Amino acid sequence: MPKAQKIIIDTDPGQDDAVAILLALASPELDILGITAVAGNVPLKLTEKNARKICELAGKPDTKVFSGAIRPLVRELVTAEEVHGKTGLDGPDLPEPKMKLQDQHAVDFIVETLMAEESGTVTLCPLGPLTNIALALIREPKIAKRIEKIVLMGGGFFEGGNVTPIAEFNIYVDPHAADVVFRSGVPIVVMPLDVTHKALTTSKRVAAFRKLGTRVGIATAQMLEFFERFDEEKYGTDGGPLHDPCVIAYLLKPELFKGRECNVSVETASELTMGMTVIDWWGVTKRPKNATVMRDIDHDGFFALLVERLGRL
Ligand code: RIB
Ligand code: CA
Repeated sequence: MPKAQKIIIDTDPGQDDAVAILLALASPELDILGITAVAGNVPLKLTEKNARKICELAGKPDTKVFSGAIRPLVRELVTAEEVHGKTGLDGPDLPEPKMKLQDQHAVDFIVETLMAEESGTVTLCPLGPLTNIALALIREPKIAKRIEKIVLMGGGFFEGGNVTPIAEFNIYVDPHAADVVFRSGVPIVVMPLDVTHKALTTSKRVAAFRKLGTRVGIATAQMLEFFERFDEEKYGTDGGPLHDPCVIAYLLKPELFKGRECNVSVETASELTMGMTVIDWWGVTKRPKNATVMRDIDHDGFFALLVERLGRL
């Protein structure tokens, strides 16, 4: 087997983040150097605890979990308890974590790891607001050339937004951080709502997780049944979009996704369009192609990968 890909997962769990973390922990192709928590779906105190709960659910209590930014760079924190519940992981009743949180700040961990590891060998996987990533780039600009790539969930274009008519949550919460990341020159792969809205947790798919009959399988079904209800109601669909695992699935099976290189710019001034990702899919501007934006997914293949891998935990 080729050498495992070294990754750092930056996350705001969040049930969909949780499934992404489980997928990564179940996959030997990935070497998870650390999981860094950021404020987003719920406040930081909960996202860092939820990250540890998920590591223990996966039977991987030695995973290093770090706590990062408590709020966005400029704007006030906006959270999403209406989607994820008060704890951020409503659905299963997971025990309080026993594993310790790392003392080091997440941003310091990201910078020190990137400066210590061989240049161009570490991939960053942001699943929430980009505050930690932006702070690391600001604290030590040298890391920009040392990051292999960033694969992130965020933004939207033809699909519009999910927090405002035109802005997706991760970018909306911290548009200034997103602007720093998209201007950084780091190779970026984007999983926008245009992809994730095609990966719906239909009842048949949720049943497949439950049918695993394992603690992970049952907890995943419970998480998805809670998490999907908000979007089912909003979009009138069977199931809700499973956003964050698309990032990890891309690392494991990039052939599941289709997209193209284009410019992504972030609105940070207008209140009307704050946090909008202006994605030049048709190349009508001369703006630099700073990202590979995905638009299509083999959703059956995606869920088959998820069930197979989570079945290993
Ligand atoms: O808009 C979806 C994104 O916002 C996902 O990452 C979800 O976990 C929330 O963070
Ligand atoms: Ca998330």
